[in-house]
Amino acid sequence: MGYIIAMAGKGGTGKTTLAALIIRLIKEKKLGSILAVDADPNSNLAEVLGVEPAGNIGEILDDICSNSDKVPAGMPKERFIQHQVQSAIQEEEGFDILTMGKPEGPGCYCYVNNVLRGVMIKLIKDYDYIIIDNEAGLEHLSRRTTRSADRLIVVSDASSVGLKSASRIIALAKDLKFEVKKSLLLVNRLNKNIDNQKIKETGLDYLGHLPADPQIEALSSAGSSIFKLDSNAQLFLALNLLGDKIWKRN
Ligand SMILES: Nc1ncnc2c1ncn2[C@@H]1O[C@H](COP(=O)(O)OP(=O)(O)OP(=O)(O)O)[C@@H](O)[C@H]1O
Ligand SMILES: [Mg+2]
Repeated sequence: MGYIIAMAGKGGTGKTTLAALIIRLIKEKKLGSILAVDADPNSNLAEVLGVEPAGNIGEILDDICSNSDKVPAGMPKERFIQHQVQSAIQEEEGFDILTMGKPEGPGCYCYVNNVLRGVMIKLIKDYDYIIIDNEAGLEHLSRRTTRSADRLIVVSDASSVGLKSASRIIALAKDLKFEVKKSLLLVNRLNKNIDNQKIKETGLDYLGHLPADPQIEALSSAGSSIFKLDSNAQLFLALNLLGDKIWKRN
């Protein structure tokens, strides 16, 4: 069964960057097969991983819902959706990637989404690691992917407002009955020591903090891939040190 690492956190905290870097580290350590899932409608995980995004699930479902004659005669709809989802998976060097795309409008979608969830649950079993990059907040997390995770990594800045928002996200995950084995707070873009009291007050399981890295800023403004990041870069080294707590199965 795939080991699911889901990223969450408020807008712009670094979810996509860190999801991509986790994917790179798992790949370079040869820990197993990887499925990267971009569950943010404003998809940019493929770009950060340096690959050209192909089709997405939103488009496929739209197509099926608006043209029911797309389903070949005699083929159960579920099999057809499964086939279409499978064909939307991009196989890249060292990882596969699936882009969920925009959420659906009203229509036949409820049924299709249920089928999709079933398909995703089966699909997840085919990989050793599934890394899901989510959109900001948790409200939408995610009707279309999975409601369980081995690790929910909540990325935050070090501000009180940021940390409160991280706590809210974890509380919401509980309210929404997500099956999360472990939620971990990860503070990003902090170059000094963390105020331990502030962390303690959150009551969250604290993974650690990562520095603001000028190399990442430069890569990001050039639109370059995370694979171009020097393996001596501060962020690379720091995440590598915390990594076992993220991806080590126990
Ligand atoms: N440790 C870091 N050091 C420097 N820059 C960083 C760091 N982490 C992320 N960034 C930069 O911050 C910006 C936002 O990061 P990112 O897109 O990963 O956040 P996000 O949480 O996925 O945002 P959104 O909520 O919009 O999806 C990017 O330009 C990224 O390069
Ligand atoms: Mg993002």
